[in-house]
Amino acid sequence: MGLLLDAWLTVLTALWLMLPAYLANMLPVLVGGGAPIDGGRNWKDGQRMLGDGKTWRGLLLAPVLAVLLVGVLRWTTTFPAWGRYGFSDYGPSPWWVLLAYAMALGALVGDALESFFKRRTGRVRGERWVPFDQLDFVAGGLLFVALVSTVLALVGATASNYFLDAFTWPRLLVIVLLTPALHLVVNLIGYKIGAKDVPW
Ligand code: CTP
Ligand code: MG
Repeated sequence: MGLLLDAWLTVLTALWLMLPAYLANMLPVLVGGGAPIDGGRNWKDGQRMLGDGKTWRGLLLAPVLAVLLVGVLRWTTTFPAWGRYGFSDYGPSPWWVLLAYAMALGALVGDALESFFKRRTGRVRGERWVPFDQLDFVAGGLLFVALVSTVLALVGATASNYFLDAFTWPRLLVIVLLTPALHLVVNLIGYKIGAKDVPW
């Protein structure tokens, strides 16, 4: 019983801590569009650098909205009735704002980088590329938050390294294993409701 509860809390906490990246990755479907980051330019191979699916609005607006949403969700865990799970925070206050933003921005930078390699391997916009479509934003988000956490700890702004404290090996394992499944479900819903053109 104790073990089962521990495992469940590990799963919940891991997913909770990834919310800035998850939200940032989902929001561009709703708020993206407009001018593409690559300005419509092609690479040497004659293919687009990134493609029309990577826009400035998605890159710049989604992370800000993700942090705002995370702020609201974070606040709900201070309600006595909900807070009983003892959800971890996104870093010591007020630095969680910067750390959540780093994770959200990193998610979209990772996603854009993935598109760059998708185009280089001849895949057109929207074409599927398992498992990179499912994990690009996880890798980018974790990398950015690790970098910012390390800088904050080095300059003494935070007492310890948030990334090392929060992203333990069991949690990282949960993230890598469960994110692709969640990605599949969310995109299928996005497709069914007409927000996405393809179900992945
Ligand atoms: N999007 C955006 N700006 C970004 C990232 C995403 O506007 N920086 C929007 C685009 O409308 C995109 C949608 O979110 O079509 C879904 O993102 P994703 O699945 O990553 O893009 P794809 O269209 O599949 O393109 P790619 O093949 O380059 O991944
Ligand atoms: Mg992608």
